[in-house]
Amino acid sequence: MSITQSVHYVGVNDRQIDLFEGLYAVKKGMAYNSYVILDEKVAVLDTVDRAFKTQWLDNVKKVLGERKPDYLIVQHMEPDHSANIVAFLEAYPNVKIVSSPKSFLMMQNYFGRDFLEHQMPVSDGDVLALGTHELTFFSAPMVHWPEVIVSYEKTEKLLFSADAFGKFGALDTQDDWACEARRYYFGIVGKYGVQVQNLLKKLANLEINAICPLHGPVLNENLEYYLNLYNVWSSYGVETDGVMIAYTSVYGNTKKAVELLERELKAQGCENVVLTDLARSDRSEAVEDAFRYGKIVFATTTYNGEIFPFMRDFMHDLTERNFQNRTVAFIENGSWAPMATKVMRGMLEKCKNLNYAQTTVKILSAVSEENRAQIQALAKELCQICKN
Ligand code: FEO
Repeated sequence: MSITQSVHYVGVNDRQIDLFEGLYAVKKGMAYNSYVILDEKVAVLDTVDRAFKTQWLDNVKKVLGERKPDYLIVQHMEPDHSANIVAFLEAYPNVKIVSSPKSFLMMQNYFGRDFLEHQMPVSDGDVLALGTHELTFFSAPMVHWPEVIVSYEKTEKLLFSADAFGKFGALDTQDDWACEARRYYFGIVGKYGVQVQNLLKKLANLEINAICPLHGPVLNENLEYYLNLYNVWSSYGVETDGVMIAYTSVYGNTKKAVELLERELKAQGCENVVLTDLARSDRSEAVEDAFRYGKIVFATTTYNGEIFPFMRDFMHDLTERNFQNRTVAFIENGSWAPMATKVMRGMLEKCKNLNYAQTTVKILSAVSEENRAQIQALAKELCQICKN
């Protein structure tokens, strides 16, 4: 597949994978992207997962023909992109490895050698001329690891963005970009919003015709849309006005309360209401929704003097990703010593800029008439915030 006349796609689709990074369910597989730039000099950008060594080397060979590559550019050392460095050097022993100094330290750890005779370390702003094409490198620490660089090709105005702007899913699947890119972003890079913002600032003055990430499709139209989403996500802004209700329920009483709240919210004109049973939902889908909407209701039971495990894990997922800038409300259920609201509030203590709803719903075992009134009041309060 050609991206332009001189730039070719040599990546692979992984249809065997069940959990990306051992954690994220990827029912539609995963793509590990790799690119070749043909000019007076030849550069290959990144390798792929170890399981695809032969297929990837064949893809590279098909594009190169009898030519030999001059450079292997390693933008990111996570093994889904770096696993075949040794195999590449065996196939092309004269190649130079262009990467950040930190990457060479990581190569020593992964491969037991740092490829000293092949090293071409680059720093922020360094340029590599290939002929007509010229790559400028930008460090992108913690997007997603500390050694990451991204590469901008100035003649064709291509941004090779490493993990940034990637998504879950093999390239031969059709799905909504934002949905799986958001789940990928908040799962993998969500903690590092400040660092993503720093990268966006570095890129702000570049003219970009296409973004070539290490996962997901090459983005070559409507780039403002993707850049804007990345700006919203990395600044922890609100992407969609609406309410997420995240809940756990042991015997159905908390569930009854959240379903009542959902109906009330809709009755009062709140269009986007997402109800998520944390015990029966994909964990990363729940996380992306928490960061997507502006308001969130946490509803759970007291459990072992704490809160229900699925809620505790969910809230931990949020706080470790710097959850902030949201309106928050609580529904608690407890039969003899209710603790849930206190525990949940404590878990959010260090989050920045949370606006707590005044109404809290306190269920003592089953939903009472008083609870119904509290739920109505909470719906009204949340809708009022929608309208303001
Ligand atoms: Fe796609 Fe951070 O590796």
